[in-house]
Amino acid sequence: MLQRLTYLLVIFVLFPLVIWTGLAMSPAIASAFPAVVTVFGGQQSARTIHFFVSVFLLLFLLVHIVMVWLAGFRNRMRAMITGRAGAHKEHA
Ligand code: HEM
Repeated sequence: MLQRLTYLLVIFVLFPLVIWTGLAMSPAIASAFPAVVTVFGGQQSARTIHFFVSVFLLLFLLVHIVMVWLAGFRNRMRAMITGRAGAHKEHA
């Protein structure tokens, strides 16, 4: 449950937020669509949010990779590539 909630948060909140705040820091985008920046209270706020969200995304990536490692790296990679899960014994 916690894992699913985290994935939802990462995909639907953190990624859109980092893209949005990233675009808000672009002068071209900001002048064409000022509302993109004003909802965050200015470019400096967008920069702060961008930075903290990117730290969370980096943490998520690290934990995600550690979990894949603990779950059996070879099995998981085979499952991702072939679509079959757990048919073989683990070697690593
Ligand atoms: C469409 C996606 C993105 C856009 C358009 C974008 C845009 C930008 C821009 C324009 C800056 C310079 C900010 C400045 O002038 O200080 C910046 C800084 C930065 N970006 Fe992104 N970015 C994007 C995605 C990401 C992602 C996915 C990450 C990491 C997970 C990330 C991490 C950072 C960091 C750590 C900085 C430096 C922060 C700082 O200067 O305080 N960005 N980004």
